[in-house]
Amino acid sequence: MEKDLKAVILAAGKGTRMKSLLPKVMHEVFNKPLVARVLDSVIEAGAKENIVITGHKREIVDEYLAKNYPSTVSVFQKEQLGTGHAIKCASEKIQNFKGNILILCGDTPLITSKSIQNIVKFHNENNADITVVSAFFDDPYGYGRIVRDNENNVSEIVEEKDASPEIKKIKEVNAGIYCINWETTGKYIDEIKNDNNQKEYYLTDLIKLAKKGSKKVCPYVLESADEIFGINSRKNLAEAISIMRQRKLDELMEAGVTIIDPMTTYISPETTIEPETVILPSTVIEGKNKIGKNCKIGPFAHLRGDCTIADFVKIGNFVELKKANVQSHTNICHLSYVGDSIVGENVNIGAGTITANYDSRTKIKSQTVIKNKASIGSNTVIVAPVEIGENALIGAGSVITSDIKANSLGITRAKQREIENYVK
Ligand code: UD1
Ligand code: CA
Repeated sequence: MEKDLKAVILAAGKGTRMKSLLPKVMHEVFNKPLVARVLDSVIEAGAKENIVITGHKREIVDEYLAKNYPSTVSVFQKEQLGTGHAIKCASEKIQNFKGNILILCGDTPLITSKSIQNIVKFHNENNADITVVSAFFDDPYGYGRIVRDNENNVSEIVEEKDASPEIKKIKEVNAGIYCINWETTGKYIDEIKNDNNQKEYYLTDLIKLAKKGSKKVCPYVLESADEIFGINSRKNLAEAISIMRQRKLDELMEAGVTIIDPMTTYISPETTIEPETVILPSTVIEGKNKIGKNCKIGPFAHLRGDCTIADFVKIGNFVELKKANVQSHTNICHLSYVGDSIVGENVNIGAGTITANYDSRTKIKSQTVIKNKASIGSNTVIVAPVEIGENALIGAGSVITSDIKANSLGITRAKQREIENYVK
């Protein structure tokens, strides 16, 4: 029988080098805080009722978690006395837990659910008491080093600040990710002491303590070291975004989507795109979206999330979409904003069309519905809530404030006048 799985995510640190008013784990990669990226991966891998250790500016993290991850528990670590101390703070919440506890850092947003699944599978198959995850770095500076014995078993982890020159040469580093059989091995957390150069309670000492108690410690080497890339600075944040972006583009191209210029294309991990769709340069797709096949998106298109685009749709240059459901064979080709809208099939939206969906005084957003085969003239403002009927026509330059029936023409512009010889 599979053991229950629960994750503890360490996120109490300040992140001094971010030079920010926000706690580090609340900085975003593709519109999601770092801690949420880690949570998504563990949840997708099957972890439930997870715990986040919070400290610095915890109220900001707690508010976000309560709203977006209500089943996640926040545990307060008042003083950051080390990673081992952070886990001690969670002890009360997990003391009778009989499953596996995954421990991860909240500032490593690139860890994938696939790797977490593999780690847990490896842990269970080996009947391990602790699985410690490692990776090989050309430049291991700053990380804890994995020390192995003659039989290639992990004997201990030594932090950079406590390492001898010999140990500093080791390129295998501690990823900061562990899977622990809590029933057999959780008790050793209480034995962790702070007798080291940093006077910190090191979680990594758990390895030594468990080995002393004849527990089975197994190393799991990550194939891609990218996955444990940690964020300590704004530069790291940009690097993480770049890695995540390239991952997504590779995945899409592999699946049959054409990306004309990967260098200038940003597509969120939460977006799905079907084959034969072409993404043109300088396109930014954020949030969660579903895009069909044979579409043409961009150049310079901006999807802001919650968009559903069916097949054979064209979204052209300088078009912004938000919460838009666009059905097949519809064109929105130039300079338009379509938000909170349902747009039918075979609709043509002329250049410069705006759905006015937001009342800035009441802060209320309203919906626009445009039925199949409607044709919206250029430079139309559609003031929501409003419905444009099937096959209806709107004259260019109109401001539409009330519904238009099927097959009708809606037009609000003033009649053209001509004053002959006026210029003379
Ligand atoms: C830690 C590991 C190191 C590993 C590295 C991987 C220890 C002693 N060292 O080092 O072996 O190579 O991660 O990235 O565990 N945190 C708390 N409370 C605390 C201290 C830290 O919540 O009291 C959180 C931090 O916010 C951070 C994470 O734990 O998210 C890691 O802490 P950090 O101080 O960055 O540890 P490292 O020195 O990087
Ligand atoms: Ca760190």
